[in-house]
Amino acid sequence: MTIRQRTQVGIVGAGPAGLLLSHLLARRGIDSVVVETRSRAYCEARQRAGLLEAGTVQMLRDSGLGKRLDAEGLEHGGIYLQFAGDRHHLDFRDLAGRTVTIYAQTEIVKDLITARTAADAKLEFEVTDVRVSDPGAQEPVVMSYRTKDGERREVTCDVIAGCDGFHGITRGLVPGLATYERAYPYAWLAITADVPPSTDELIYSRHPDGFALHTMRSLRTSRLYLQVPVETDSKDWPDDRIWTELSKRLALPGWTLETGPVVDKSVTPMRSFVAAPMRHGRLFLAGDAAHIVPPTGAKGLNLALADVRLLTEALDALLTDRDSRLADEYSDTALRRVWRATHFSWWMTSMLHVDSGAGPFDERLQLSQLDYVISSRAAATTLAENYTGYRF
Ligand code: FAD
Ligand code: PHB
Repeated sequence: MTIRQRTQVGIVGAGPAGLLLSHLLARRGIDSVVVETRSRAYCEARQRAGLLEAGTVQMLRDSGLGKRLDAEGLEHGGIYLQFAGDRHHLDFRDLAGRTVTIYAQTEIVKDLITARTAADAKLEFEVTDVRVSDPGAQEPVVMSYRTKDGERREVTCDVIAGCDGFHGITRGLVPGLATYERAYPYAWLAITADVPPSTDELIYSRHPDGFALHTMRSLRTSRLYLQVPVETDSKDWPDDRIWTELSKRLALPGWTLETGPVVDKSVTPMRSFVAAPMRHGRLFLAGDAAHIVPPTGAKGLNLALADVRLLTEALDALLTDRDSRLADEYSDTALRRVWRATHFSWWMTSMLHVDSGAGPFDERLQLSQLDYVISSRAAATTLAENYTGYRF
């Protein structure tokens, strides 16, 4: 037997994008149903991004999600750039008048699920066989799925939000989609460790043996990344090997990297990808479903949440006031920010990683670019205003 329901917005995916969209829409009195293939526990534990732009923090506060973020988030006024044996500080307050905040994606997802559950939201985990009818057709679009208990459901929706990440199904529903892509010849080995960070702010280090990043999750937990070859298996990297390599790539006279138990280890490929347009008829794409960036610029999560803020305005005007202007502009407006972040992420990535296929000429260019960033206020400001979140 198939159970039929009706909602205004069918949301595919309960990552940060889908959950925030459902939350923001509810605050405007717009009903939604969210379907997610993974379990709640899996979504809450999935280790990913950690750094929020100033505008992202403000938006989360403005939408009633600031309590734990303000209590537990770590505000940073800059970053360190390390290369050629020296570590240099970039002061974002001075350069761009803004700060950034460390607050993990896992915590944002937990806060959102708590808020949605408290509001009795229609949020279904562990569904299978999600299908969406042609969003380009005249009639309302139907999102169907099988619940955890095997029951078939059909939800008739005014619109669908494709928030199902890079491996989701909704992007494939846009006919004539243009895609723009770059794969990088390296990956990141990521660890979370039960040890207080050895630094007050993030260290981005270009070392002849490869890039390393020291970031954190809290004052008790560190998060660190190492550039590794694409085909790397994390099993080949026992904890001792990781700490030795990190200590070497982050080394500075008089400074020590504190080590501790590794509680999470994974390998992340590096890719830039943009799909356009981000809308087809009644379907709107948001977040990783439409674009991904290499993490060196810390933009993926910020972009996903920025899409959602824009989409909320567009859907509110469309569904409440029958005004389609913002919905018609959604893709172009979102893509303008996406391409800025795509360029910035590519630039940070290319400047800081060692490409084994490139020669000494490229290495000199990288070092010259880094030297320019730390010596020219104009160049440092370019990095600072993009890193903290550029607003057109
Ligand atoms: P997602 O978080 O991918 O959420 C999509 C959701 O849709 C998932 O829960 C998925 O299970 C669900 N889904 C998929 N298919 C279906 C379906 N058919 N039906 C229903 N549900 C479905 N960004 C940074 O800024 N810094 C980082 O350090 C960083 N590290 C990352 C590491 C990894 C391994 C990955 C994959 C990404 C990383 N990112 C990082 C990027 C950042 O985490 C993403 O940009 C962010 O998660 C995007 O949120 P989203 O909601 O758009 O997509
Ligand atoms: C993180 O905290 O995980 C993080 C921060 C900055 C980045 C990438 C990842 O550029």
